[in-house]
Amino acid sequence: MNPESNIIAKSRWLNQAKFLFLFVLSSAAMLASAQEAHKVITIETRHNAMALQVGANKRVSMIYFGHKLAHSDEYANIPSLRRQGTDPSGIANSAYTPAGSRNLLEPAIEVTHANGNTSLDLQYVSDQTQNEANNVSTTSIVLKDPVYAFTVTLYYRVYADDDVVEQWSVIKQTEKGNVTLHKFASANLYLTANSYWLNQFHGDWAREMQPQESELTAGIKTLDSKLGTRTDLFQPPSFMVSFDKPATEDEGKVLLGSLEWSGNFKIDLEVDPTKNLRLIAGMNPYASEYSLKPGEEFKTPAFLYTYSEEGKGNASRNLQRWARDFQIVDGKGARLTILNNWESTFFDFNETKLAALLKDTKKLGTDVFLLDDGWFGNKYPRNSDNAGLGDWKENKAKLPSGIGYLVKEAQNNDVKFGIWIEPEMVNPKSELNEKHPDWVIKQPNREDYLYRNQNVLDLSNPKVQDFVFGILDNLFTKNPQLGFIKWDCNAVIYNAYSAYEKKQSHLYIDYVRGLYSVLARVRAKYPKVPMMLCSGGGGRVDYGALKYFTEFWPSDNTDPLERVFIQYEYSYFYPAITSDNHVTDWGKQPIKFRTDVAMMGKLGFDIMVSKLNADELQFCQQAIQTYKGFSDVVWHGDQYRLLSPWQNDLASVLYLSEDHSKSIMFNYLVSNRYDAGSHLPIPLKGLNPDKRYTVKEVNLYPGTKSAINETLIFTGDFLMKVGINPVVNAHRASVILEIDEVK
Ligand code: GLA
Repeated sequence: MNPESNIIAKSRWLNQAKFLFLFVLSSAAMLASAQEAHKVITIETRHNAMALQVGANKRVSMIYFGHKLAHSDEYANIPSLRRQGTDPSGIANSAYTPAGSRNLLEPAIEVTHANGNTSLDLQYVSDQTQNEANNVSTTSIVLKDPVYAFTVTLYYRVYADDDVVEQWSVIKQTEKGNVTLHKFASANLYLTANSYWLNQFHGDWAREMQPQESELTAGIKTLDSKLGTRTDLFQPPSFMVSFDKPATEDEGKVLLGSLEWSGNFKIDLEVDPTKNLRLIAGMNPYASEYSLKPGEEFKTPAFLYTYSEEGKGNASRNLQRWARDFQIVDGKGARLTILNNWESTFFDFNETKLAALLKDTKKLGTDVFLLDDGWFGNKYPRNSDNAGLGDWKENKAKLPSGIGYLVKEAQNNDVKFGIWIEPEMVNPKSELNEKHPDWVIKQPNREDYLYRNQNVLDLSNPKVQDFVFGILDNLFTKNPQLGFIKWDCNAVIYNAYSAYEKKQSHLYIDYVRGLYSVLARVRAKYPKVPMMLCSGGGGRVDYGALKYFTEFWPSDNTDPLERVFIQYEYSYFYPAITSDNHVTDWGKQPIKFRTDVAMMGKLGFDIMVSKLNADELQFCQQAIQTYKGFSDVVWHGDQYRLLSPWQNDLASVLYLSEDHSKSIMFNYLVSNRYDAGSHLPIPLKGLNPDKRYTVKEVNLYPGTKSAINETLIFTGDFLMKVGINPVVNAHRASVILEIDEVK
């Protein structure tokens, strides 16, 4: 063989080897992508699962949501069994529906790229799951546009034991200029059933959490808020969806969802042409186009949900447990009972009056005295709600010796001192408004328009954030013994305009981010101090804010009859330990009824102690001690709703300790009709059938006798199948029973 043919043979051999190598490589890649193409990603909790499938076209779709299957390889069979009609787009069940390419329905995300193009396609790149402690894990799925340098990562944080999932997305672009986000959902679920029943809540001041249930019909039903602040005034971001039929307390398939965001929200529930339910939840894109720089990330708030096939009660216990274990501040800790002065004095107080109230706090037996609105402002004294907001210095006429004196007086009386602030707000009649008009949200060229005589400060501005943080920080620096904060937020945003923002459409979102950044600073420096989240009642009750608070004020409506309903509905989403319930002079019920209602949560008082007669005072004093004896069960136990006030003469609610040894049953008459009351025994729930229990009545009014035979011993089996009669009637309109294991 001549050298030349030798070289040719060698190169032929080399070429063949190269071909073989490339063939093996590309086959491997094809195999990998074929596997990838059918890959099913499951997001599993203890009982439930969501299955996401990577399609042949690399688009990720949701193929299952419900009780988890025993064999995860069977999820892939589900799509072929459905005959619901056609989806010409092929992406109606997208795990995160992009707008502008083939989508025909409500999108989860809509953008304008740096070059002005408005299309988006999202294809699977990778996924991974990271395990954390306590049965918590986070799965992330990276999606990328094949044409643009634009990615979305979907996050699913699973709290397996609680059957709870938090879902959010992180949007990132590395294009050659800014990209505009027009819509940016947190979650996009695709749910399948024969029918869907939405339980939503509406309200207004003093009318929070009014439930309404209806069947979802074809098209979109939207739950939203555009109020900017105090965003839950008309509607909170919490809701339930039942599948196939309305779920009851203990039966039926139901999803409880909520957005962890204190700003504008939008939750779309779209029954699509194939009769599936597309649930898209996130910050409201209304007036909120967001410009994203190259390399910048946009993180959405979490959409929180739990799913149960054993009715709403089970779902609510899941959420309550999750909140105590993972979300609220000090969820496993104790709480302080309060004497507040708002209803008893309003703005009309001085040092002498407060010193007397501090003595009354001690006499009554609550842990803390909470000084409400009206303690500040000098040039414009805060003697009504039309002046002084923003000027956080003690009013010299009312409090010549300052807050420090009151904190000391509290200490002398062996109680803690708490204080009200509304740091995000400003009255036009204030020194703050005169000094920093540019810190106020309002249109520069339009007539000012106020809500409760006040404007909202521009928390998108870092200087305003510092100011708001400083209000708290100063109070604590001067008074390290301060034991409680009530953080209020009474106004909505009118005339949304920021002198700070370069892009006005960023204001609604940056406001809430600014607020959270202040609250994070507060918590970094003062991790444990109890703080009540208030917003003219329950105008801001969501888990985005509650991450920084120990509790919330459900409503300014403290009429105990109304409260039975309001507290009952909040409890589906929030544990009793977070619900501040105060005994006030609202309503016509006797003090026993008012106190019993307030005990179903975190007990407090807002009454003139000096005006109580001897029996009333003795009753309240004893009630606080009784409450301290069982509050651990109410705060940390499981809640079971036994009778709903909406369908019965009485409401009945039970709290059960984790070890099933003790429960507290609250019963309230809610009807005035002739002979209304508990005619039959009420079956209890959650007890251990094999344990034996005694039943006794607690919190009796002085001089009254119980109608309950305390000597009887019942098995848990009996109490759950037959029940106990609390003997509620017009003469015994509220009854609290304590059920103790016989050991
Ligand atoms: C809001 C709160 C009340 C009280 C007042 C004070 O309405 O909900 O509890 O603090 O503000 O102005």
